[in-house]
Amino acid sequence: MNALLSIEDLTVQYRTRNGYSLAVEDVNLEIKNGEIFGLVGESGSGKSTLGKAIVKLLPVSAEIPAGKIFFKNRDIITLSEQTINNEIRGKEISMVLQNPQNALNPVFKVGTQLVDVLYFKNNKKIKRKNLKQDAIEMLKKTGISDPEYRFEEYPHQFSGGMKQRVLLAMAFISHPSLLIADEPTTALDVTIEAQILALLKDLVREYGTSILYITHDLGVVSEITDRIAVMYAGKIVESAKTDDLFDEPLHPYTKALLKCLPGYSSKEQLATIPGQVPNLNNKPTGCNFCPRCDYCFALCQKEEPRLREYKADHSVACFLYNQEEKEEAEVEDEKVNEKEGA
Ligand SMILES: Nc1ncnc2c1ncn2[C@@H]1O[C@H](COP(=O)(O)OP(=O)(O)OP(=O)(O)O)[C@@H](O)[C@H]1O
Ligand code: SF4
Ligand SMILES: [Mg+2]
Repeated sequence: MNALLSIEDLTVQYRTRNGYSLAVEDVNLEIKNGEIFGLVGESGSGKSTLGKAIVKLLPVSAEIPAGKIFFKNRDIITLSEQTINNEIRGKEISMVLQNPQNALNPVFKVGTQLVDVLYFKNNKKIKRKNLKQDAIEMLKKTGISDPEYRFEEYPHQFSGGMKQRVLLAMAFISHPSLLIADEPTTALDVTIEAQILALLKDLVREYGTSILYITHDLGVVSEITDRIAVMYAGKIVESAKTDDLFDEPLHPYTKALLKCLPGYSSKEQLATIPGQVPNLNNKPTGCNFCPRCDYCFALCQKEEPRLREYKADHSVACFLYNQEEKEEAEVEDEKVNEKEGA
């Protein structure tokens, strides 16, 4: 599989009253054609910022001081707003967000809104009335029962799950190469969530679309993803094929996230991760996870571990798995000690 999206050394920061807040730092990530890629992390870890950067939807307070985002070999960051609008956003790359309640216009019928998306997709060349059947087909494809009837209804007559289905229908109308799904099922109950995940899988199979699936819930991504990256305080701390990540989690943060999953640990009580994501205006020196890590040792408080391949297709940013860096630091320490002792 070839890389559809390739993010290189990306850093995104927000200007705030207290200085710069580093929301995404030095992120490298690759999504292949037809791949479902999960991006997981606690609230505030930078997942949505990364998703928005890919479609250039960052607020004006955001800056990208470093990095590249190649989509089909074009660097998104250097493309003009006009090009992004005409060729990329909503066409090559679609986005579905967390709260379906606010994403549809309450004053227009659902069918009218779907037809509108089709009308613009066809560059206004096909009359709206001739697109009705296509819109109904899309509703049917996303599992809305009685689509002819539902076509005439307003968003308030749809449940949350049905609205999310409509939004997926809209997102897939342009047959995008990439769908960014940012917590698309968080507002839904578990049964509906399972249905939406199954639908996403079907749509991917049919259209060959790749997905960047953003969530705080490792359990959700285990169902549908091929690969997962775990993000903490703006950085990717571990990335692996989904099975590998669950079979052999490496980073203490990944292990802690897994312990929070019902059914993962044999203990009856679910674990929580003590402490919180560090203040991004004032990250700790050394490893960001150190204040919450049971294994934190002297080196972790001084140096920041880099993401390194531990074994094929499985990378981790933690000194526990990086003997080389550990030894280098120990040699440096010895030199300092010798100097101080001399
Ligand atoms: N417009 C903004 N201005 C300043 N800081 C922001 C802005 N948007 C996000 N941030 C900060 O950037 C960091 C990352 O936020 P982001 O929304 O990307 O996290 P997230 O992982 O998507 O969290 P959640 O799971 O809650 O959606 C947070 O510390 C957040 O406070
Ligand atoms: S580098 Fe050190 S502090 Fe960071 S996760 Fe690994 S062991 Fe814990
Ligand atoms: Mg978010």
